[in-house]
Amino acid sequence: MVQRPGSGRINRMDLTNLIEAARAASGKSYAPYSNFRVGAALLAANGEIYAGCNVENASYGLSMCAERTAIFAMFANAMDEDERKIRVVAVVSPDAAPCLPCGACRQVLREFGCEEVVVEEGAGIRRYPFAELLPHAFGSEAL
Ligand code: THU
Repeated sequence: MVQRPGSGRINRMDLTNLIEAARAASGKSYAPYSNFRVGAALLAANGEIYAGCNVENASYGLSMCAERTAIFAMFANAMDEDERKIRVVAVVSPDAAPCLPCGACRQVLREFGCEEVVVEEGAGIRRYPFAELLPHAFGSEAL
């Protein structure tokens, strides 16, 4: 059987790669106000990894989280609707571990079908099923 790219089981290697991509993205963070650097990397349904970092602003409220920057990168690069689905997102901060997505990012990740969140914990990683982080979520099916 021919498998679609990105449709197989997520293995340990995929998660390690994703954490490493998130770590690399955190190195690009622009966080001169909070000094809290964050990188996120998501594995999309097309098998590609899209990464992002937080980008702050002197007008604080205009700052953007790493997770949403990664989602915007997916939209900037993936063409088809069925490619623009998030299987799993990794979030890494050199300034805090674990670094879990904020509430706003959980809602936006949910919009694009995120199934799982992976963060660093101690010397290892921890996987959270998405529904554990945003139970009883609001989504398009309610409209
Ligand atoms: N931040 C993220 O980028 N992702 C998170 O999951 C938590 C918070 C950013 C927003 C802001 O630039 C800084 O971290 C401190 O809140």
